[in-house]
Amino acid sequence: MAHSLLITNIHRLILTEYKPRTQALRGSELAALPVVDHAFLLVEGERIKDFGTMGNCPLRADEVVDAAGRMVFPSWVDSHTHLVFAKSREEEWVDRIKGLSYEEIANKGGGILNSARRLQETPEEVLFDQALERLEEVRNYGTGVIEIKSGYGLTVDSELKMLRVIQRLKDSCSLGIKATFLGAHAIPMEYRNGNRQGYINLVINEMLPKIAAEGLADYIDVFCEKVAFSVAETEQIMEAGARYGLKAKIHVNQFYSLGGIAAAVRHGAVSVDHLEVVEDHDLQALKQGNTMATLLPSAAFFLGDPVPPARKLIEAGVPVALATDFNPGTSPSSRMSFVQSLACIQMKMLPEEAIQAATLNGAFALECADDFGSIAPGKYANFFLAKPMPSISYLPYAFASDLIERVYLKGKAH
Ligand code: NIG
Ligand code: FE
Repeated sequence: MAHSLLITNIHRLILTEYKPRTQALRGSELAALPVVDHAFLLVEGERIKDFGTMGNCPLRADEVVDAAGRMVFPSWVDSHTHLVFAKSREEEWVDRIKGLSYEEIANKGGGILNSARRLQETPEEVLFDQALERLEEVRNYGTGVIEIKSGYGLTVDSELKMLRVIQRLKDSCSLGIKATFLGAHAIPMEYRNGNRQGYINLVINEMLPKIAAEGLADYIDVFCEKVAFSVAETEQIMEAGARYGLKAKIHVNQFYSLGGIAAAVRHGAVSVDHLEVVEDHDLQALKQGNTMATLLPSAAFFLGDPVPPARKLIEAGVPVALATDFNPGTSPSSRMSFVQSLACIQMKMLPEEAIQAATLNGAFALECADDFGSIAPGKYANFFLAKPMPSISYLPYAFASDLIERVYLKGKAH
């Protein structure tokens, strides 16, 4: 028999589902956060076996942990990060303080190309060790599943190197990991004068077949933006990905609305991410499909950009997820609880909406909601005990406090 773990005397057990949902949360569903008060949680091996009120608590288990009135939350699902990178970029951040814009830095060969130069010279082993250390921090922040993109390689060898690092991380750590191929993150300088298609061909004809042959990616991504790839180029790359069975998750509408959202929805993208700028035609396109709108408020915060219109999206019935966008250029933080605070303070999401967007809808954005994203029998036992606090809303409210006391992943305390 698998080891059983019983958590007793939970003041509030958050995001419970007796039967796991099969569809992402939309509209008023986001605010309807299911909670069991004065609860127990029973884990068997790596998975949740049962939960309920203390009146129905099982009498024994191999291990019993008294939550002593603490709350239990499902682990965060961070569905958009660039966690593998070679070096931080605080010198560009200082340039932005002095007045340069993110786009100006990118056009000068800084930004993503700066990270690419550094990653190309860094050995796989070093990248792996750095990433593993960052994942430890991610885990302590209460995250249980994370998506990690390539996109700082921009050559065949370096994109493969990044994806191999992500593959090794999958095998060496307790977090759930999904890998996304983002070869189309920026056009390298040598292709910028009249040979953009040359780079796109490299992505489609050289990188993709190798990545598919080694099974290194779960999704394909493109940075659809004036400084990066056009809508037509994005479509070309999404179509190529689809030929290898890779669904799309697209960076889009960070600075401009170019029509990329409609293109992504037409191609059945799993998610469109960023959305700092949303026009009526974008909203109409989102209403037609099942594509998740993944909002990254810490990137908007760090760049001083307008925040994504979360209320407008929720009111239109568009499913919304929240993620960190952890990367050295626009969001040097993997802390999901800060994203919670920004979602509430700056985007006017209710705490209940922010919690569900960062857990269950995050799992839908990574197509792993059968296993993660809520407290439900059969799902992996990924959750955290919060420090004593007066209410659920206190978590996003106390925006700089560290309120995570103990993290459990697949039934094991960390
Ligand atoms: O999601 N916008 C494109 N990609 C990243 C930033 C990458 C970088 O600046 O290194 C983002 O914000
Ligand atoms: Fe990103």
